[in-house]
Amino acid sequence: MAEYNPFSLRGKTILVTGASSGIGREIAYECAKMGARIVVSGRNVERLKATLAEISVATGNEEHLAVPADLADSSGIEALVADLPVLNGVVHNAGINKRMTCQFIKEGDMQNILRTNLESPVLLQKSLLKKKKVADGGSIVFTASLAALRQTPGNAVYSASKAGIIAYAKTLAVELASRRIRVNSILPGMVWTNILSNTKIDIETYKENEKTYPLGRYGVPADIAPLAVYLLSDASSWMTGTSINIDGGAGM
Ligand SMILES: NC(=O)c1ccc[n+]([C@@H]2O[C@H](COP(=O)([O-])OP(=O)(O)OC[C@H]3O[C@@H](n4cnc5c(N)ncnc54)[C@H](OP(=O)(O)O)[C@@H]3O)[C@@H](O)[C@H]2O)c1
Repeated sequence: MAEYNPFSLRGKTILVTGASSGIGREIAYECAKMGARIVVSGRNVERLKATLAEISVATGNEEHLAVPADLADSSGIEALVADLPVLNGVVHNAGINKRMTCQFIKEGDMQNILRTNLESPVLLQKSLLKKKKVADGGSIVFTASLAALRQTPGNAVYSASKAGIIAYAKTLAVELASRRIRVNSILPGMVWTNILSNTKIDIETYKENEKTYPLGRYGVPADIAPLAVYLLSDASSWMTGTSINIDGGAGM
């Protein structure tokens, strides 16, 4: 008898954006280990190739793909979608942050954050649907953030971008339910990745804040990936339109 595994992704093809580092890289790796064929995307070609190589070696499967794309650029989105096979899963994970208090928000910084975290996934998803790249019964996952619900100084634009994508995801869930395509959002608390180094907060301050987390630490990408696996698998086939905190208890 085949091994019992309700979270298997065998037979599914899954796109993960922002897979060249951090949370996206780990999600891609875990999904591949659960049997999926993975398409990884990101801007940094070297790190993307390294992700693909790691996944291919770990799974002994040469069918995974890497498609570099700058998703802040409409032509990057169109080129990515043109290269894609039909997908059973999509993880909209690419994102950026830059902290600035409301008095000092610069228009260009705001546009970059809203473009990457909100507009780009919306436009990518539109193109995937128009080009019929998402199979019926598929699963779409957005990496939002606990920041959408729990505010800290300097994070207004980032928080707004993530609150926006959660609202968008719920509407998408309503629209796609008749095709049994499910749409859910993951809301991580603080996770040790490169994104933290772009925030002008020093490591000692993060380490102090980490102690306030009920479970005593910030997350690592491996804490987040299994939730994505669950949402992409048939084990979650009655879940849509949800937004799930995964945050060491920080959201309590
Ligand atoms: N770490 C946290 O504490 C935390 C908490 C909550 C939510 N999140 C969210 O988790 C997601 C992943 O972030 P992370 O923490 O893993 O940070 P990360 O290590 O910096 O990864 C960000 C990823 O997004 C990609 N990306 C950024 N701009 C892009 C663009 N214009 N086009 C294509 N790809 C782009 C990056 O690609 P390149 O490096 O190749 O440019 C990279 O692969 C983000 O949406 C973030 O907002 C993170």
